[in-house]
Amino acid sequence: MTQDEMKKASAEAALDYVEAGMIVGIGTGSTANHFIDLLAKVKGKIDATVASSVASEERLKSHGIPVLDLNTAGQLSLYVDGADESTKHLHLIKGGGGALTREKIVAGASEKFVCIADDSKLVDVLGEFPLPIEVIPMAQSLVARQITALGGKPILRQGFTTDNGNIIIDVHNLEIINPVEIEQKINQWAGVVTVGIFACRPADVLILGSSTGITTY
Ligand code: A5P
Repeated sequence: MTQDEMKKASAEAALDYVEAGMIVGIGTGSTANHFIDLLAKVKGKIDATVASSVASEERLKSHGIPVLDLNTAGQLSLYVDGADESTKHLHLIKGGGGALTREKIVAGASEKFVCIADDSKLVDVLGEFPLPIEVIPMAQSLVARQITALGGKPILRQGFTTDNGNIIIDVHNLEIINPVEIEQKINQWAGVVTVGIFACRPADVLILGSSTGITTY
């Protein structure tokens, strides 16, 4: 089984969490794209969706799935999204696709966050995948200095602007032993819009696809 087939299998398993009449929050990335394509086959079951990126919104609309603004939708029952890394505690790194801010907003507005991924994303300690931070452009060098003081290596994501008009700094070489503490700390730096650690509001369910099948945590 390829990595992409494992992603698709995890997306398929997440369909079990979709109930009639729900407004479903939709993540971003290749695994979330599988979920969107599978959701299209049962689109009559749900009321609408809320997208975490322009790219996902366009994909949903191309399938004729209704997309609402989050302020219109209110509280969501379910959010389904991928991740770049996850621990067994369901603490995540997200933002490889640069959509971390809207993803964190939609996750925060959802009762249940189901994370879907292939099993290569499961780690003991977060941080091998470079940690994305969305930053207001003016604060780039200030935030970079604070990252260095924390022990990480800041690298500006070249030629990339977020859906919100900001930059992404990817933090290399940072072993994230205490994800909740580090998330709270980086969140407080002036100029930081969002840090890609999802630990204060972790996933509620993690569905991993592997060559031997599906494992749910
Ligand atoms: C998007 O900003 C990310 O948080 C994605 O959820 C993450 O990069 C997972 O991507 P894949 O599903 O493509 O691996």
